[in-house]
Amino acid sequence: MRSRLDNLINEFDIALKTLSFTKAGTNRETPGKDCDDKLNQADIKLAQRLMRVNLAGEVAAQALYRGQATASKDPEIKQHLLEAGEEETDHLLWCKERLDELDGRPSIFNSFWYLGSFTLGYAVGKFGEKTSLGFVEETEKQVVKHLNSHIDQISPADSKTHAILKAMREDEDAHGKAAKSAGADDLKSPTKKLMQLSAKVMTTLSHWL
Ligand SMILES: [Fe+2]
Ligand SMILES: [Fe+2]
Repeated sequence: MRSRLDNLINEFDIALKTLSFTKAGTNRETPGKDCDDKLNQADIKLAQRLMRVNLAGEVAAQALYRGQATASKDPEIKQHLLEAGEEETDHLLWCKERLDELDGRPSIFNSFWYLGSFTLGYAVGKFGEKTSLGFVEETEKQVVKHLNSHIDQISPADSKTHAILKAMREDEDAHGKAAKSAGADDLKSPTKKLMQLSAKVMTTLSHWL
């Protein structure tokens, strides 16, 4: 049995690994690996910005899942959250790889997104398993919408970024549906609005910085 201090140290270690992009995922190959796109400067600039936003989103996703799993009292749900979180780690690594290839840089606020999202995830988790799953379902729905808008914006010439975003969209959709079938409660409309608003702050800031 792990003590509270052990858990705290373990969480801190995971946070550092996430923020340094050295956390292990499920070892899936990066989508679009063999694409060899010739992009112009405008395409590259746009892709740098959008992938910085997506990387920030994946940092936040890691922290939300970890926070929710930490608060969860049901071993099965905890495991469910941790497993979904691990697939999210693949997204984190794919986005970082693509951002590096594009010569872009991560958001300077990533540590802040992590801390804020972990706290939020933990608080949501304290409302109980059904609310926590409802939060996953709603988050993933919003992420799918967000990814659709990025897929529309990215240059059609940029097939690697497209491949990554589409693979992520498939996972996010599956995570949302899995949360629903695991017994998610539908969240109240003001809560959904508040989630949209906080995501907007994060995506807007990460677009530029
Ligand atoms: Fe993700
Ligand atoms: Fe997700």
